[in-house]
Amino acid sequence: MSNQATTSPHHSATQSPTAATHWPHRHLLELRALSPEHLRTLLALAGTMRDRIGAAPANLSAGAIGDELRGRVVGNLFFEDSTRTRVSFSVAAKRLGAEVIDLTSVGSSVSKGETVIDTAANIASMGVDCLVLRHRSSGAAHMVSRALDALAASSNGPQLRPCSVLNAGDGRHEHPTQGLLDIFTIADQFGRAAASGSRRSTFDLTGLTVGILGDIGSSRVARSGIAGLSALGARVICIGPPSLVPGAMRTLGCEVSHDLDAVLPELDAVNVLRIQFERHDAATAGATEPGHNQPAAKSSAAIASIREYTEFYSITADRAARLKPEAIIMHPGPINRGVELASSVADGHRSVILRQVNCGVAVRMAAMALCLTATPAVAAI
Ligand code: CP
Repeated sequence: MSNQATTSPHHSATQSPTAATHWPHRHLLELRALSPEHLRTLLALAGTMRDRIGAAPANLSAGAIGDELRGRVVGNLFFEDSTRTRVSFSVAAKRLGAEVIDLTSVGSSVSKGETVIDTAANIASMGVDCLVLRHRSSGAAHMVSRALDALAASSNGPQLRPCSVLNAGDGRHEHPTQGLLDIFTIADQFGRAAASGSRRSTFDLTGLTVGILGDIGSSRVARSGIAGLSALGARVICIGPPSLVPGAMRTLGCEVSHDLDAVLPELDAVNVLRIQFERHDAATAGATEPGHNQPAAKSSAAIASIREYTEFYSITADRAARLKPEAIIMHPGPINRGVELASSVADGHRSVILRQVNCGVAVRMAAMALCLTATPAVAAI
């Protein structure tokens, strides 16, 4: 594959690096199901996309980076709140020439009781090529992808053309593009990233230790991170109190530690997660702390108190100083400043939080370019 894409201003589907890549997955549902080879293919294409963005003029317009998705329609179906993922998918789709439609539960017929499958089938029947789905239920993206594949294969009724489903976060299951952009950011920081066609061995994370810190049990980001990072050779340590990081997480292929201070010096990167009070069972009371964007619900049976959590598990300036000199601090967002990490750390020199967001556009461009031109030997993953 050529890496000339980095210097050419415009790229068609026939010329793109995707054309030479066999990619069998129409849907992107979970990293757990992707082989290391396919993870590397997608990440390398993200490297190419990022190079193209860097080479493009500042006044980018839709389709300015490539036309892999020209004539395609991407539907954002977000049944849970989102800032980064929804906008990032929209920007990515438009950069490759797609039209984008947005649907949320507020203002749609979901509020009248329509099921997510009926909603998705109706949208797909309008000729939409790709649904980006966020839903509070684990497995929602799988369910929708199977339903759309069955409709496309059915001889009854109007023929539905194949529609890709990209999981934008489903309950506690996975958030694959977040996992990919986190991996891309780490690989890039440590010189393990490259664009498609590079002669270098790319996205081999052997020798790197990545900590995932916080509310692992509730986290789809953690599950995608564990799957992708470990497949690419990284050592992954999930860190937090036993109530948020059960020992059973080890079955996913990571280590578990309840002692942040003990493992801090071993980490090359630490991905700090928000405590997802809204996914816990318990009460919602709690006073706000001036100057901090505290979570809507800030007490739970899973932690005794925010003060105690902060004492043992927050990345404070002192803890950041005890990391390796080159270690990076990550966060998928949204941040609760002063809870899982100090404001000065979020804005400090180790923080790559906004770089993660920046990489996310290239990752999502790559994901859509591959899935929408898939040649399925396997229809779904
Ligand atoms: N990281 C992430 O999923 O952020 P949003 O909820 O804002 O999309």
